[in-house]
Amino acid sequence: MNNYKDENYIKSSGIDFVLPKHVGIIMDGNGRWAKKRLLPRNMGHKEGVKRLRAISRVTGKLGIDYLTVYAFSTENWKRSEEEVAGLMKLLLEGFNTVSEELSENHVKIRCIGERDRLSDEVVNAIDNVQSLTEKNDGLTLNIAFNYGARRELVHAVKSVSEDILNGKLSVSDIDEDLIADRLYTGGQQDPDVIIRTGGEMRLSNFMLYQAAYSEFISTDVLWPDFSDEKYIEALREFSMRTRRFGGVKE
Ligand code: IPE
Ligand code: IPE
Ligand code: MG
Repeated sequence: MNNYKDENYIKSSGIDFVLPKHVGIIMDGNGRWAKKRLLPRNMGHKEGVKRLRAISRVTGKLGIDYLTVYAFSTENWKRSEEEVAGLMKLLLEGFNTVSEELSENHVKIRCIGERDRLSDEVVNAIDNVQSLTEKNDGLTLNIAFNYGARRELVHAVKSVSEDILNGKLSVSDIDEDLIADRLYTGGQQDPDVIIRTGGEMRLSNFMLYQAAYSEFISTDVLWPDFSDEKYIEALREFSMRTRRFGGVKE
């Protein structure tokens, strides 16, 4: 629940449509943004972080409850050592410098993903920012870092299996809600919309279970160029979709 909706901001942005409660964003295109400018890929990531801060602020003001952003996938370890190190550094810098600012904005940060392969320094920064912002009651910002949806499902299956073995659960207790609860997003509603920048039309292992009925919006705009206005445009496009959830609507 986000208790800091800014009605004035909503009015002045010309928003006269229904907003989603949970937005997912696949922040893609940083590398191409940098390449176009003959800059190293990590400069694209740096710009990407700036955009993420701005988009989080807007999302908070819109009164949206959850924003889940894909920042680093379990497959992104395939990139060069230099690029991976740059991404880790950006996370560290980001978490060490914005914690106060994010607290002011009432943002509650949660990192979703694997801990393995992350350095102690990164794990500590994650723990620190999570506990610093834990009591905030504004936007919940889930940062999918070292995240893969298949891995998330493996965890869920293991956690249910352990509870069956230790007698806390029986097989007949397993249902869709129980599995959803064991995902990193347990207790949160599914994303209403998933926006992917950078033009690709795929999920790349993002929220496979939770995305069952999410509206998918792909834009060619590269993530560092995804302005507040373009974001609001995407939300407007979402509001015009007819969601049927398998039923019939005239
Ligand atoms: C997304 O941008 C950020 C991460 C995956 C870390 P990319 O780095 O994938 O950018 P492109 O797709 O190469 O342009
Ligand atoms: C998805 O982007 C992951 C993130 C945005 C963090 P990728 O650039 O890794 O996806 P693919 O390789 O194009 O599918
Ligand atoms: Mg990419």
